[in-house]
Amino acid sequence: MRRIAILASGNGSNLEAILTAIDSGQIQNAQVVAVISDQEAAYALVRAQKHKIPSRVFRRQDYPSREAYDRALIAFLKAEAIDLVVMAGFMRLVTPEFVAAFRNRIMNIHPSLLPAFPGTRGVADALAYGVKVTGCTVHFVDEGMDTGPIILQEALPIQPDDTVESLQARIHTLEHRLYPQAIDLWVRGKIKIRGRRCFIDE
Ligand code: GRF
Repeated sequence: MRRIAILASGNGSNLEAILTAIDSGQIQNAQVVAVISDQEAAYALVRAQKHKIPSRVFRRQDYPSREAYDRALIAFLKAEAIDLVVMAGFMRLVTPEFVAAFRNRIMNIHPSLLPAFPGTRGVADALAYGVKVTGCTVHFVDEGMDTGPIILQEALPIQPDDTVESLQARIHTLEHRLYPQAIDLWVRGKIKIRGRRCFIDE
């Protein structure tokens, strides 16, 4: 049984989608054993509670530096024997030490077709730029901002009447399908990484 920790700063709809995929058996041999947030008010924590999953808040202001913060996270995740760290709207850039502690075992989801529109405004930036196609990306986390090896990616056309909200809603729907799929592939050992490239053997 693979032990997953989910890191979320906000609403947690991706967290919910992953929990649903585990409950329904779409992802087998894995359990979410911890939900971690940097925000006490994150709705993701309420979702964790509803699913009876232990949660922990790590507030940035309780630590003297990013390094100290990440060391506390690493210690917690190691103590919980976590196999896979899933970032689902976790609005923090992790340190190289964190990446090294869980190399190729940290996933993130990003609401654009990386490497286009990295950062915290992926949806709004794509819309403002005027691209006709955007989408979402699941990737392993490396030391950069949204730069790690890409696991799955799916495109979505932008409509002339799209607003940030309408586009975001469609991207969310896509994310809720793609993230459980990527996690399932990882749990079943189907993802091979060579250099920057991920190969899926089904
Ligand atoms: C998602 O759009 C994800 O791509 C981005 O943050 C958002 C999190 O949404 N990294 P939610 O908290 O899972 O609803």
